[in-house]
Amino acid sequence: MTVFDIAWVRTQFPAFSQGHLADKGFFENAGGSYPCAQVVDRLHRFYTARKVQPYAPYAVSEQAGAEMDEARARLAAMLGVAGDEVSFGPSTTANTYVLANAVRRWLQPGQAIVVTDQDHEANSGPWRRLAEEGHAVREWRIDPMTGSLNPDDLRALLADGRVRLVCFPHCSNVVAAINDVAAITAIAHRAGARVCVDGVSYAPHGFPDVGALGCDIYLFSAYKTYGPHQGIMVIRAGFGAELPNQGHWFNGDTLYKRFTPAGPDHAQIAACAGMADYIDALSARHGGPAGAGAARLAHDLMRAQEVALTQPLLDYLSDRNDLRLLGPAQAAARAPTVAVDLGRAAEPVARALAAYDINAGGGNFYAVRPLQAMGIDPDLGVLRLSFVHYTSRSEVDRLIAALDQVL
Ligand SMILES: Cc1ncc(COP(=O)(O)O)c(C=O)c1O
Repeated sequence: MTVFDIAWVRTQFPAFSQGHLADKGFFENAGGSYPCAQVVDRLHRFYTARKVQPYAPYAVSEQAGAEMDEARARLAAMLGVAGDEVSFGPSTTANTYVLANAVRRWLQPGQAIVVTDQDHEANSGPWRRLAEEGHAVREWRIDPMTGSLNPDDLRALLADGRVRLVCFPHCSNVVAAINDVAAITAIAHRAGARVCVDGVSYAPHGFPDVGALGCDIYLFSAYKTYGPHQGIMVIRAGFGAELPNQGHWFNGDTLYKRFTPAGPDHAQIAACAGMADYIDALSARHGGPAGAGAARLAHDLMRAQEVALTQPLLDYLSDRNDLRLLGPAQAAARAPTVAVDLGRAAEPVARALAAYDINAGGGNFYAVRPLQAMGIDPDLGVLRLSFVHYTSRSEVDRLIAALDQVL
């Protein structure tokens, strides 16, 4: 069994060598992770040495364009899809609005879509607005006690064959239970529906093999996945060609331009190659290969590390009778995004934790619908303690000690 080299991992993140951050236990990673050094270096290099309009026939411009192409190609390889199936946009929310506009014209009268009440608003509200055009929007509802989605309920929603698109999260940013994307996708495909998955809360815990999952669209946010502030969309070629082009008409033949109407952020796209550099380096450090193999190994390393560190926190929280833990109590079934309902305003508790050098957040995290569905007042919100593979055991121990003081 490979020993996870946490000391090396932390050297890859400049934040941990900043005086004002080094002593803080960071537990708001689901809001945005620290970027890895490889991303910071590439962004700096682009702004200082490549900052020209890319793809023109002179050396620095060709270099700038090549770095953007490199990011797309290397991320695509890690995600198990073709290069032109990866596109970049300003954020996952903005990307979803663009996609929803495309679906708006793709749906025929009488057809329906499915959304959940487990999703962050980004993979919910933009789709629900299709109801304004008279399209039927059906809600796949969570169990109010557990917050989980039952595939049998989806089967019932698909039974009449009218649903053309199913939107759901790989895991929710407050419930954190990992949904079986491959199985759910197969159910939707058998019923003739396409599938859009919000992977924002999952991808930071290891790039998935999107090709193997089989979904038609997979969305995630680079700024929560050790990268710059970009939204990344995987749009599989078949569905991408079916949906109407949302970009300039003369760019419609290029898949990765069809759903990015605005000019792309050149520097940030180029910097996304640093995410692949980091995954390759993490794999190499643990004796693994580069490229797709690195992504699979990094995924498994991250998950094993996170599961080991999450379980003590879940056990501690489950043992208390003054709070409600959202989502599974078993670490293997969830992401390390641990939300708790305190029955009182969560933000002041997060503030109290800061006095113990624990940085965390309290609020509704734009998961208003899931909280309401579980009977939690979104104005009181939940305390969210979210971590990733670079979180150390001593940080988790300090978090538990601090919780003991403030709860
Ligand atoms: C699960 C989930 N989906 C979508 C989003 C929206 O991502 P973005 O900020 O890139 O629009 C977030 C942001 O917090 C999220 O947690």
